[in-house]
Amino acid sequence: MDLVIQNENAPQGSIIEVLKLAADPDSKEHLSSAELKDESLSILLAGHETLTNTLGWATYLLSKPENQRVQEKLVQEIDAVLGDRDDITLEDFEKMTYCQAVIMESLRIYPTVPLFPRFVENGTVLAGKYDILPQSIIVISNMNMGNDARYYEKPEEFLPERHLETLNMDRKRDFFPFGGGHRMCIGKRLAQVESVMVLSKFLQKFQSRLQKVSSLIPNLSLH
Ligand code: HEM
Repeated sequence: MDLVIQNENAPQGSIIEVLKLAADPDSKEHLSSAELKDESLSILLAGHETLTNTLGWATYLLSKPENQRVQEKLVQEIDAVLGDRDDITLEDFEKMTYCQAVIMESLRIYPTVPLFPRFVENGTVLAGKYDILPQSIIVISNMNMGNDARYYEKPEEFLPERHLETLNMDRKRDFFPFGGGHRMCIGKRLAQVESVMVLSKFLQKFQSRLQKVSSLIPNLSLH
């Protein structure tokens, strides 16, 4: 990472170049080397791993025998919007609502950020009945909520259609794969556009089928 940052000839339009050129509007100061490194690492880690995992889970769900209907419907949309074209524009993205819904449904079943820990500085009472002590940590489970029948009918089924009506809505209470509030994902829009672009390019050329029917159970760990 140090070598990339020190390189005087960062490619034009690259994230590194954009970060190097960025300046505080008042002081006109640029980011220090340490700040450049922090920002680049955040973008690389927060923006790469999350996206590749999302695409991995979406492809897995599409390849299951019981979800072939979804894959076929998705391919029809890709054919109608892109045909054999290699390039994809933002206008195409807006039209590919089913593909957007497929990504949202994958994030519901297998959210790539499954838990949000929060440090509670001052105690509070949640929903009038849960006493939260000061200096405690509470953990909100995106994954449990997304797979709970109180919020989703037939939560075990892969049904992208359930997101079609709400694609552009700001849903804060029952579905928040990109978080919410002050620490919400800054790359949400980029991630949505990139995931639709990559998935549609992939399905333009390939079909995804599981060779052996297996059930994957996500396993969380910290290293
Ligand atoms: C499908 C892909 C992605 C998912 C599911 C995702 C999800 C999230 C979530 C849930 C948070 C908030 C965590 C919390 O509240 O504790 C977050 C934060 C963040 N995300 Fe993403 N993200 C994705 C892609 C990206 C991309 C592409 C970028 C940047 C290029 C990015 C950059 C960040 C950064 C910098 C933060 C920290 C924001 C802060 O703390 O102020 N993410 N992301």
